[in-house]
Amino acid sequence: MEVIIRPTTQEAVHLTARLIADAINAKPEFKLGLATGATMEAVYADLAAMNQRNEVDFSLVKTFNLDEYIGLPPEDKNSYRYYMNYHLFRHINIDIRNTNLPDGMAKDEVAEGERYEAAIRDCGGIDLQLLGIGSDGHIGFNEPISSLAGRTRSKALTPATYAQNSIYFNPPESMPRRAFTMGVGTILDARRIIMLITGARKAGIAAKALEGPVTSMVTGSALQLHPRTVVILDEAAAAELTQKEYYNWVFANEPEWAQYR
Ligand code: GLP
Repeated sequence: MEVIIRPTTQEAVHLTARLIADAINAKPEFKLGLATGATMEAVYADLAAMNQRNEVDFSLVKTFNLDEYIGLPPEDKNSYRYYMNYHLFRHINIDIRNTNLPDGMAKDEVAEGERYEAAIRDCGGIDLQLLGIGSDGHIGFNEPISSLAGRTRSKALTPATYAQNSIYFNPPESMPRRAFTMGVGTILDARRIIMLITGARKAGIAAKALEGPVTSMVTGSALQLHPRTVVILDEAAAAELTQKEYYNWVFANEPEWAQYR
């Protein structure tokens, strides 16, 4: 794992977007894993701006989102399909048929999980998975005690996730209690992972996930098992990390980061 701390949220976001754009430019038929949440909105705005400046081309890119609420149709403003169309897909030159999310309205939940896994497998697997982290340490919707070997399936959401996400629902109680999510095992199969963590409220959980033990109580800690993961934080989210000096030295001195400093 590599940890990169940028002084501001904007710089952390911009570095994330640049790494994604550079990876797509190196392999146009890219398979990109996407995340939702407030943190990602600025990343998608950056990618959209780069696309409009012809700095990155999405015409051959296929995307797979991590998760979707169960019971929300695509046109519901709180569905992740709506979020993705709104924040990214309508602004870029992607073929919408190449964008994939679990179907929140699927009748057979087990079959939907299997369908999604097969779709990822059939296109050769995910080249780069973008991740945020929930306030309880989840990646996707892999809540505490999720199997670290899990695959795409339905999950019940914790009270912490309910508290964090129900503010977007009107009324808040209309937030679904369950969601489809890629499993931690699905996520770890991605060839590369970039996690973005911003803001002071994530400082405690960031330290647990990155420097604490690998545990299903904080599924973000499973990234420690992945050989090509970069975690990008702003200064506020990095506040409780103990090895900051080391991370900063690596970013300032290792040749692979020279073009991004
Ligand atoms: C949701 C998503 C996660 C995301 C999290 C963080 O729970 N399922 O994939 O990481 O939100 O959201 P935010 O960026 O709003 O803190």
